[in-house]
Amino acid sequence: MKHLLDIDDLDADDLLDLLDLAEDFAEVQKREMPKVPALRGRTIVLAFFEDSTRTRTSFDLAARRLSADVINFAASSSSLKKGESLRDTIETIAAMGIDAIVVRHGSSGAPQQITRWTDATVINAGDGWHQHPTQALLDSFTIRRRLGTLAGKRVIICGDIKHSRVARSNISAFTKLGAEVTVVAPGTLLPVGIDRWPVRVATRLEPLLPEADVAYFLRIQHERMSPALLPSDREFRTLFGLTVERARLLPDHALIMHPGPMNRGVEVDAEVADDPRSVILDQVTNGVAVRMAVLFRTVGPGRFEVDEPVNPAPADPVLANPVLANPVRGGGNA
Ligand code: NCD
Repeated sequence: MKHLLDIDDLDADDLLDLLDLAEDFAEVQKREMPKVPALRGRTIVLAFFEDSTRTRTSFDLAARRLSADVINFAASSSSLKKGESLRDTIETIAAMGIDAIVVRHGSSGAPQQITRWTDATVINAGDGWHQHPTQALLDSFTIRRRLGTLAGKRVIICGDIKHSRVARSNISAFTKLGAEVTVVAPGTLLPVGIDRWPVRVATRLEPLLPEADVAYFLRIQHERMSPALLPSDREFRTLFGLTVERARLLPDHALIMHPGPMNRGVEVDAEVADDPRSVILDQVTNGVAVRMAVLFRTVGPGRFEVDEPVNPAPADPVLANPVLANPVRGGGNA
């Protein structure tokens, strides 16, 4: 696998391979020394042209736990501010000799475009409304860990589907892994062409909640919408939020999920976010193991030895050098 741009480029076997590998890395994370040497000597650039807390820190930690060198490129303090184009910025970074670039960008398709300007691996960390493949992987991983499988599970995805790259990636991953997905949203927050997506569409949560295995809520993306699409956050909560009363309709085994950042009291009530069925912080924890798996598969050596020491003892420089080790015979002229 050279790049990770879109969940649609992967089939179910590819997804399961990454989830299995992430299980190995989750084991590594539990160790006292949660680090392996797999990417020692590789350089990974995190190029975030859009704000992020969890995705950026998660990729940063994942790369460091694989012993890679990490460069954090902050668009807000770069020469982009002086008018440099995205292409020149990327070509400049790539000219320093890097192995991978993890890109978040406000424009759909930017990571794909960047693959044409560099030989480095490109990993999509969220592009516009389009895709957020590592989010879909970490969410699939979280569901599989808790419920054993996604096959046959009933998943509700509720909220701002139209502007959500998380919805697009997750629907693709969940349905490839055999889940049945129903989206719930006001008509104004459903995308054009939703009838061609592999989902059912509903306008009310109540009939679905008692049968659900997963209830996944999306952030209202105010920065991407015109105010005309949604009268108010309060009205959204009343009709589509996971309120305390609605959460009572969910079975005990069901998972409550949100990709974050969450508007407590809008998509999910504050008390519900802390409900024992909420796995919102597990999603964050699992993100690191999943991103380790993605970095390993794209820039790693193609093999994984969990027990390889991170800093193997360096060979004794004297004994390793035949000239120095045997100065009588050697002396440099032997
Ligand atoms: C999401 C994103 O940025 O796409 N957050 C994330 O990466 N966890 C969702 C969002 O911003 O609502």
